Amino acid sequence: NDLYAVVGNPISHSKSPRIHSLFASQTGETLEYTAIQAPLDDFPGTVRQFFERGGKGLNVTVPFKEQAWTLAQRRTDRAQKAGAANTLYLDADGGLVADNTDGCGIVRDLVSNHGVRLEGARILVLGAGGAVRGVLGPILAERPGLLTIANRTVARADALVALFAPVAGQTRLSACGFEQPGEPFDLIINGTSASLQGDLPPLSPGVIGARTVVYDMMYSLQTTTFNQWALEHGAQTVYDGLGMLVEQAAESFRIWRGVSPATGPVIEELRND
Ligand code: ATR
Repeated sequence: NDLYAVVGNPISHSKSPRIHSLFASQTGETLEYTAIQAPLDDFPGTVRQFFERGGKGLNVTVPFKEQAWTLAQRRTDRAQKAGAANTLYLDADGGLVADNTDGCGIVRDLVSNHGVRLEGARILVLGAGGAVRGVLGPILAERPGLLTIANRTVARADALVALFAPVAGQTRLSACGFEQPGEPFDLIINGTSASLQGDLPPLSPGVIGARTVVYDMMYSLQTTTFNQWALEHGAQTVYDGLGMLVEQAAESFRIWRGVSPATGPVIEELRND
C-alpha cells in the first residue's frame, strides 16, 4: 500500500489519519495513513527516513510547518508566499516538494460549504503569526474589498501587509492593533492562538454588526471562546475551523492521488465523533 502520514509534536490528537482513511474508503483508493511524532530536534531526519522507506506524502503540523518549507528543494507558489508548508511529496526526480493547502482549505470552507461571499467583502483578520500568513494569499485572491489585519504586536501585522501588498490588487490592505477597528465587518477571521490559553483578543464589540459572519480557525467540541464572545455581541453566524481542517486535507489528498474526495460527509462524520 502507498504510505502517507502526518508529522507533528505532539501528534496523538491529530484527526488527519481518520480524515484520510474516510477519503480513501469513499474514493476507493488503497492507501495507509499514519501519525508520526517527530522529535523536536530532528524533523529533517524524520522526513528523510519516511521517504527513504518509500513513503509517498506527508502532512506537516505544529510546530514543523516552517521547517518543512525550509527543507524542501521546491515550493509551489502558494507555499512560497505562505512561508510554511503542510504538504510534502517527492517529484519525479526525487526532489522534495512543499505545498500549502491551508489557505485553499479556509477559502473552500467559507465559500463552498458556508456560502460566504469574499469578493468585495470587508474582512477583519485577527493575528499575524504563521497561521494567518498561511491563508492570506488565497483569501486575497478572492478579491475582498478591504482586509484589515489586527494584531497584539502591530509590527507583525505591518510586516504581513508589506509582504502581501504586491498581491493585494484592488483590496485595501492595512494593519492595526486590536483597539483600532471600530466599524462592523462582513467577516471576522480569528487566526490568533489566544483561545489556546482561554484568552480573548481585546477587541471592540463595534466590529460586530447584525450581518457579521465570524470564523474561528480553531476547532473544538464546544463553541470556541472567541465565537461565544462574537455571539454574545450579536454576530449573525459563527463557524469553527473543522471544515477548514477537512478541506485542507482534501486538497492534499487531491495532490497525492489525483482524486477530489467529497468533504461534506466527512465533516459531518467528524462533527458527530
Ligand atoms: P501560529 O502559527 O498559531 O500563527 P504564532 O506564529 O506564534 O503561531 O502566532 C500566534 C498569533 O496569536 C500571533 O498573532 C499572536 O500575537 P503576537 O504577534 O502579538 O504575539 C497571537 N496571540 C497569541 N496569544 C495571544 C493572546 N493571549 N492574545 C492576543 N493574541 C495572541
